Amino acid sequence: MKTIIEPFRIKSVEPIRMTTRAEREEKLAAARYNLFALKSRDVLIDLLTDSGTGAMSARQWAAVMNGDESYAGSPSFDRFKTAVQNLMPFDHIIPTHQGRAAEAILMSILGGPGRKIPSNTHFDTTRGNIEASGAEAIDLIIPEGRDSQSLHPFKGNMDLAALESLLTEHGDAVPAVMITITNNAGGGQPVSLENIQAASKLARRHGKLFIVDGCRFAENAWFIKQREPGQFERTITDIVRDCFACADGMTMSAKKDAFGNIGGWLALNDDDLAEQARVKLIQTEGFPTYGGLAGRDLEALAEGLAEIIDESYLRYRIRTNEYIVEQLDAMDIPVVKPAGGHAVFVDAKRWLPGMNPLDYPAHAVACRLYEIAGIRSCEIGSVMFGRQTDGSEKPAAMELVRLAFPRRTYTQSHADYVIEAFAELKDEITSLRGFTITNEPKQMRHFTCAFERQ
Ligand code: F0G
Repeated sequence: MKTIIEPFRIKSVEPIRMTTRAEREEKLAAARYNLFALKSRDVLIDLLTDSGTGAMSARQWAAVMNGDESYAGSPSFDRFKTAVQNLMPFDHIIPTHQGRAAEAILMSILGGPGRKIPSNTHFDTTRGNIEASGAEAIDLIIPEGRDSQSLHPFKGNMDLAALESLLTEHGDAVPAVMITITNNAGGGQPVSLENIQAASKLARRHGKLFIVDGCRFAENAWFIKQREPGQFERTITDIVRDCFACADGMTMSAKKDAFGNIGGWLALNDDDLAEQARVKLIQTEGFPTYGGLAGRDLEALAEGLAEIIDESYLRYRIRTNEYIVEQLDAMDIPVVKPAGGHAVFVDAKRWLPGMNPLDYPAHAVACRLYEIAGIRSCEIGSVMFGRQTDGSEKPAAMELVRLAFPRRTYTQSHADYVIEAFAELKDEITSLRGFTITNEPKQMRHFTCAFERQ
């Protein structure tokens, strides 16, 4: 059969409240044009993030009831740890309330003034935690990763030559090399197993730790299976194990590829580093057998990790994005190609070539998409990255609108609705106006700043 169906039945539903365009225009104006300030009840299809927004399975909900909430020595921790180690063979598994807490703990140990931490592309919380420690976060993506039209199969790959020269010239300043799979900030693009292993080899040759940000490890493994020579016959589990076997540790947001509504972990092999991390964990998150989570959350994540590697799920998951990208591309709407793992990215710089990047074209597209169809997306461009640490403002490398799909939450007709919304938006594209930021906090402005339509 050619039709790829959602590989699940729906047992429990959440109604969507229908709204009119006039109502949405009013709500967005009241939110001062910041999509983060909208109430979720005013959103029809929420593609703001794929983080913590997925549907848990019946088995996960059943596992929740087995949660043991003991402060120390909970069997829920043992089940969680076994499930993680089944895929990621690290010695120390340290649970945290979400990914950024794992990053904060790691960077409190590895970061510090004068240090440099490279990655293919750091996610913004990783960058934030590195910079908060006084260290420098460096992105070393391959050139194809910056070109929205390049059809390179692994646009998330690390530029190994650039990594080599950084390690040769500034090796003393580098405590660790990181790699993000898939590369969220660069369009959800995958990293090949070959590239992960080569980056690890380089890091180790220079005596550096190699740390994987593994948030979307299963989606990345699916791409490896489909696109990397010699990988097609292998199981997702074997590919995942290979991705982590060459690493010294990982940070994880379990809100992505562990099907959790909350959760994360830091994993390490080094005993001494793990001891330091656990001290910090106790100070900031909780005792090492629950970290920042409840026993029931650990149970849900253990079950989620068993489900995420299912190939029929991954096939449906990745195909949904490909389908939307194909349809938008057929309408000549500029999209990042090939489709990413967790999201569709629209290239607003190419769609609105006449608009100054500091009038925030991707934000203009995201706002009009909400007004037309009630779809909430997220700007990844100059609103998010434009403000520099010295206070100046400069355009971001790309002006993207991200439509991130929660896992197992929306169906084919929701995808078709998104496509229809873009057809409407295309008819209105020449009428889009830019925005001015009228009020912004000192850091991470995109979450709370206020806008005025020009
Ligand atoms: N690393 C990557 C690659 C991420 O995408 C995220 C979160 C984190 C780390 C941080 O994890 O949210 O659990 O603290 N990304 C979400 C997103 C927020 O919408 O892309 P967290």
